[in-house]
Order: sequence, then C-alpha cells, then structure tokens
Amino acid sequence: MDRYAVIGHPIGHSKSPLIHTWFAQATEQALTYTAIEAPLDGFAATVDAFRAAGGRGVNVTLPFKIEACAYADEVSERARLAGAANALAFDGTRCRAENFDGVGLARDITVNLGHPVAGRRVLMLGAGGAARGALQPLLQAAPTLLLVANRSTDKAAALVASFHAQGWGHGVLRAAGLDELVDAGRFDIVVNATSASLADQALPLPPQIFGPDTLAYDMVYGQGLTPFLRQAQQAGAGRLADGIGMLVEQAAEAFAWWRGVRPDTAAVIQRLATPLT
Ligand code: ATR
Repeated sequence: MDRYAVIGHPIGHSKSPLIHTWFAQATEQALTYTAIEAPLDGFAATVDAFRAAGGRGVNVTLPFKIEACAYADEVSERARLAGAANALAFDGTRCRAENFDGVGLARDITVNLGHPVAGRRVLMLGAGGAARGALQPLLQAAPTLLLVANRSTDKAAALVASFHAQGWGHGVLRAAGLDELVDAGRFDIVVNATSASLADQALPLPPQIFGPDTLAYDMVYGQGLTPFLRQAQQAGAGRLADGIGMLVEQAAEAFAWWRGVRPDTAAVIQRLATPLT
C-alpha cells in the first residue's frame, strides 16, 4: 500500500486522514493516510524518515508550510507565490512542492457555492500567510478588483507590491487598511483570511461592504457562526460560508496530483459540514 500522511504540530485536530481515507475508498485507491506530529525543530527529519519508510507524499500544515517550500527540490509557481507549500510528492530522490489551499478556496466559491469571481469585486481581509496563499488562484479567476485589506496597511501594501513585482495582479490587485473600507463600496465576495475568528474577535468592518448578493466566506471551519460571519449576517450579506469546502477541495487537488484521479467532494463536504448558527 502506498503511504501518505499529514505533518503538523499540533496535528490531533486534522481532518485530513478522514478525508483522504474516504477519497481512497470512493476511488478504490490502495493507500494509507495517517497523521504525524513533527517536533517544532524536526520537520525535515520527520519527512526524511517518512520517505525512507516508503512514503509517497505528505500534506503539510501549521507551522511547517514555509519550511516545506524550502525542503523541496522543485516548487510550483503557485507555491512560490504563496511562499508556502501544503503538499509534497516524492518521486525517487526528488521532492516536488505544491500549494492547493488557494485553488481549494477558488473552487469552493465558484463551483460548490456557485458564486462567480470573474468580473466581480472581491475583498480579502488579512495579509498573512492564509491571504497570500489565496491571491494567485483568485486572480486567475479574473475578478475586476481584488482588494487586500489589513489592520496594518503596510503589510497589505507589501504583499500586493510583491505580487505586482512578479507580474501578477496589475490593475486588479490593490491594498488598503481596514479603516479605509468605509469608502470602498460594496463587494460581491468578502473572504476573511485573518486569524481573528480563531481568537473569537470581530473585525472593525463597515456594514456597507456587504449586500444581499454578497458571499461572506470565513476560511476557518467547524466554529459555527464566527464573529465575522455574524457581522456579515447582521449587515445583510446574502450568503455565508465557512472553510470546510476549501479544506475538502484542497485535499481533492492533492489526491488528484498524487494519484491521477480526482475524487468527488460534495458528499465529503456534506458529511463534515457544521451548521452556521
Ligand atoms: P496566517 O498565516 O494564518 O494568515 P498571520 O500570518 O499571523 O497568520 O496573519 C494573521 C492575519 O490576521 C494578519 O493579517 C493580521 O493583521 P496584522 O497584519 O495587522 O497583524 C490579522 N489579524 C489577526 N487578528 C486580528 C484582529 N483582531 N483584527 C484585525 N486583524 C487581525
């Protein structure tokens, strides 16, 4: 049996073993997928040991996504732009790195939730690793505006400037401070990529960014109605979503990359979804 795993610290919360085991059953692929907790200073050694034991690939989660990029021999353009990898594949002595988080988000929004990005105004809240990883796939979906708004405006400006310098997002990708959103108008899609929901904190958001056709998307999952989603709901956002679909879609992308067969995601998302109340 081919062996795969997710590596992180901590790792107990990970749903990846469950998701990939369901995918393997549904597609009749002979593989095992386990969770491995690496010591904080032992990511590379843990991956080396897994490869030596016959491992074919791993997913990588916090806090090792940046290190995973450095570990690989070959890094895809989107992993490079994301500055992080969430999947590694081992072919003989070579290690390839990919990042499927952003494509998972874009696919969940456009395919599963049926909310077009093309020609729409998209607001990305946050300028940390989670936001950075989502930018290239969202730009590929051709919005008219992708505004990165962050508490610290400088960080958003630096992130946008680095994309522009690499030839991405000219005329579409812009930066702002959260305090500038009051004049920014209404958005078709608002994605929360800050870590505020994890700390149960609300963001200072003006209600007029949301409208009846707005999709409010929180990248966290399993937390029910987060402060961000509650704000959006109270401001009249027409549609709310959490990040469970993104999680399952990035897993399906990794599975297809490793195995050459893309599993169906709808049933898995349904099994893992928690009510947004
Ligand atoms: P991650 O890798 O998960 O994105 P990160 O790199 O630590 O985590 O980034 C966290 C993001 O959440 C940042 O954009 C941060 O804003 P600052 O850059 O201004 O610090 C944002 N964030 C976290 N808590 C926040 C809060 N209470 N209000 C507004 N923004 C918050």
